[in-house]
Amino acid sequence: MMQSASPSQTEAVKRWYSQKTQDLLDKYRLGEDAILHFHLGVGAARDPRGDIRELQRQLVTSQQLLVERMFQDLDGTLPPNSTLLDVGCGLGGTSLTCAEKYGLRTTGLTLVPEHVRICQDFAKQAGLWERAQFLEKDAETMTFPHRFDAAIAIESICYMRRERVFRSVAQALAPRGFFLVADPFVPRAFLAGILGPLYAATMAQMGTLSDYDRAAESAGLRRTQTIDLTEEVTVWWNLSSAYHVKAARAGIGNRPRHLWRGLRHHVAMHLFQVGLLRYFVARYDRVNA
Ligand SMILES: C[S@@+](CC[C@H](N)C(=O)[O-])C[C@H]1O[C@@H](n2cnc3c(N)ncnc32)[C@H](O)[C@@H]1O
Repeated sequence: MMQSASPSQTEAVKRWYSQKTQDLLDKYRLGEDAILHFHLGVGAARDPRGDIRELQRQLVTSQQLLVERMFQDLDGTLPPNSTLLDVGCGLGGTSLTCAEKYGLRTTGLTLVPEHVRICQDFAKQAGLWERAQFLEKDAETMTFPHRFDAAIAIESICYMRRERVFRSVAQALAPRGFFLVADPFVPRAFLAGILGPLYAATMAQMGTLSDYDRAAESAGLRRTQTIDLTEEVTVWWNLSSAYHVKAARAGIGNRPRHLWRGLRHHVAMHLFQVGLLRYFVARYDRVNA
């Protein structure tokens, strides 16, 4: 499916993330932790129990596990000091995890200027500021004076024009560099039109796996490994929905907003459960690698 996103879509995504900052900090920051992810997770408990803090801890642990699984299961382990481009870095969780756990030198990109500052503060707080840099840059048009050993994009390509971002990532990668991607996708193109309005609020533009592959191929990349994590993220949505319902009951933050999110995440859980939405992690390598 061709995407018709315009520069105003980029502006809308920037505004959308900008106004979510406090919610992200409230939901995903454990105490004074400096590593904050904003994406789905794997390995969450099927039957979410415990108080709200325990649910938060489970959400965050399973997000962390997704990042680790991507590197391990997609043969992505890199030697320390290798360089990693984190495309659409959110509040820096993936970059800082990779800098801390694998000793990588990371560059995270986001459209949101205040998120760059928060990521930089987190990097300082975690003692990682020499390894992890963050830039305000549009991934569709980015250029760099040097090449990266690998790139990663967790739930960010779905906000971008796929052909453009695959092209700019391919240009940024070293000759043997690879690209790890995690995103939701629709199993059939017509579902993007039906589910689109439901997801319009999040600004995400769903595509099929073939849409990703076509965009990759036009940039000289091809999918070499894929893992379908639909079932695992279904469990995560259940946990996230339970978190919002419990937060509403406990009177934490904005009650109607928590209830609304609890409901939306429950619907998302069902869409993944019945397979109308799916979730993949994949590795893309150069066609001629
Ligand atoms: C769901 S968040 C991803 C979170 C992040 N990958 C993590 O590990 O926590 C989506 C991110 O994509 C970024 N994004 C969307 N479109 C972008 C673009 N054209 N260029 C750079 N970043 C973009 C947003 O600014 C946001 O940080």
